[in-house]
Amino acid sequence: DGTRTYLIGGNWKCNGTIASLEQLVSDFNAAGPIPANAEVVIGAPAIHIPLCLMTLRKDIAIAAQNCSLTGMGAYTGEVAASQLKDMGVTWVILGHSERREGFGMAGEDSELVAKKTKAALAEGLKVMLCIGEKKEEREAGTTMDVCASQLKPVAEILNKEDWANVSIAYEPVWAIGTGLTATPEMAQETHANIRQWMSDNVSPDVASAIRIQYGGSMNGGNAAGLMAQPDIDGGLIGGSSLKMDFFECIKGVP
Ligand code: G3P
Repeated sequence: DGTRTYLIGGNWKCNGTIASLEQLVSDFNAAGPIPANAEVVIGAPAIHIPLCLMTLRKDIAIAAQNCSLTGMGAYTGEVAASQLKDMGVTWVILGHSERREGFGMAGEDSELVAKKTKAALAEGLKVMLCIGEKKEEREAGTTMDVCASQLKPVAEILNKEDWANVSIAYEPVWAIGTGLTATPEMAQETHANIRQWMSDNVSPDVASAIRIQYGGSMNGGNAAGLMAQPDIDGGLIGGSSLKMDFFECIKGVP
């Protein structure tokens, strides 16, 4: 809405090789400027974070796509928030619907996502907190109930000051990777409801300051229309962030 800095996140998910990412980084580095009213962050696979930190243009920050609930210690296979911070990572994406779903493993529930959010913030990371309803939940008219149930444990565990380092990424699950984008009006309605919920359940100040990004088949062709809506403060972009189309999304910042 002009008062909040737009936040454009790319979520590369589990994609890329050294060769493909070196190419993408060099293309991104040669692309045009990032507008002054936008902040750009790339969520890289953990293993590619050092490569990105060393080679990607410095006006793009790096996010992890997950972090451990635990600190450092005997937790085989985990990456602690403190280790991400130590490496120079500034953001972490938490609660993505793919992690909530679990892809065949136990998924993450909203309580776990809330605890991870608290742990990441305590280490000085900023958090893109993903929420969003499934197709059948939208059809049943329960979109906002689902979003509220995902936000509630986070609101219970965070202090008001913590929210300054959180962005909410509203990703309707039915729009992720499907090419079915929410219309700007449909997304705006939910974003406004989320902001209202934040006002009622956290505080009006936090609600007006927090960025709410839209995620789900955002691309260079629809980003501008979505971000023209008053409560859509950026995007969290999957497929298009693996291509130069990511910069077309950035150009859509009002
Ligand atoms: O986190 C971003 C994401 O879930 C959206 O993915 O491929 O639909 O842009 P995509």
